[in-house]
Amino acid sequence: MRAAVCSAYGPPDVVAVQDIPAPALGPGQARVRVGAAALNFPDVLIVADKYQLSVPPPFVPGSELAGVVAEVADGVTAVAVGDLVAGTTFVGAFAEEAVVAAESLRPVPDGVDLRHAAAFGVAHHTAYHVLRSVAGLAAGDELVVLGAGGGVGLAAVQLGAALGATVTAVASSADKLAVARAEGARRTIDHRAGDLRAALREQLPGGADVVVDPVGGDLAEPALRALRWGGRFVTVGYASGTIPRIPLNLVLLKGIQILGFEFRGFAAHAPEALAQGEAELADLQARGRVVPHIGATFPLADTAAALQLVADGRAIGKVVIDVNDDVLGC
Ligand SMILES: NC(=O)c1ccc[n+]([C@@H]2O[C@H](COP(=O)([O-])OP(=O)(O)OC[C@H]3O[C@@H](n4cnc5c(N)ncnc54)[C@H](OP(=O)(O)O)[C@@H]3O)[C@@H](O)[C@H]2O)c1
Repeated sequence: MRAAVCSAYGPPDVVAVQDIPAPALGPGQARVRVGAAALNFPDVLIVADKYQLSVPPPFVPGSELAGVVAEVADGVTAVAVGDLVAGTTFVGAFAEEAVVAAESLRPVPDGVDLRHAAAFGVAHHTAYHVLRSVAGLAAGDELVVLGAGGGVGLAAVQLGAALGATVTAVASSADKLAVARAEGARRTIDHRAGDLRAALREQLPGGADVVVDPVGGDLAEPALRALRWGGRFVTVGYASGTIPRIPLNLVLLKGIQILGFEFRGFAAHAPEALAQGEAELADLQARGRVVPHIGATFPLADTAAALQLVADGRAIGKVVIDVNDDVLGC
């Protein structure tokens, strides 16, 4: 099969498409012929060996996919050959075939194409649990989203608006902010245009209830300062490359809660909240209430270029890789 292979750790251009043997099917797994896969910032980190977990090269990166089930292991009943499915895996999605835990696959809802099904794997699930279970976002809340043009950020904009919050989107370009506004942001701030703290104070004189931060770096503290008394700040990731340090007096003075979210830990320690959020999110997807914004699509041969777009912070919403054209047409 053709697959995008990371043969040695490094920048995105270490990834090249090769012919390699299809992966063996293990117990409890299903083989999926991939129609589309989608990128996430952690893919860039895994290829560079800068993620929390290392995968020894050679390996096929890619953590979210949609396609058709081609084979199931003995005893698997969760899915059957011929099912259209979407799912997540740690690595392995940027290939014509991927083997995935059958229990992790979910049916593609009627009316959802495989590109959008693949793009709904990580960012929207992350954003939904962050907003609902961690931040306790309620209708009428003021929500500030950093990195609002990126995968997790734009998903948080869409879902925050769908949950009835008033969303302020913060990003680095007019293009990203235009998309954020189209996806539900009421207010937008270009943090490169001036002082973020002053801009937030001007736009939110009463303060924010919740800040979602997938970026970190220099943006975190001014965003935290924009919270009103009792506000919640959720740290989700550090796409800027810098883990921020927050003066604790800011937390003390306003009774602020600083909260963290990491998917594996959340899934392991809060299974009931996970299940409830997953069901609510599946319902939003099936009803067409939330549709991922696909900002760019690449063929499998250009996986390195797709990774570079994400690595540079230039992606808007989700970046998708078309894999098997015949499956995409299903
Ligand atoms: N906790 C979890 O379970 C979980 C799950 C998924 C992802 N994450 C993390 O969440 C973060 C965002 O992931 P994503 O998939 O949404 O990424 P993405 O689509 O690439 O978006 C990241 C955003 O970060 C900003 N940014 C600032 N400096 C950057 C730089 N040097 N390089 C790249 N981006 C930069 C950009 O926004 P501006 O417009 O402001 O520049 C960009 O839009 C990552 O750190 C990822 O590891 C965490």
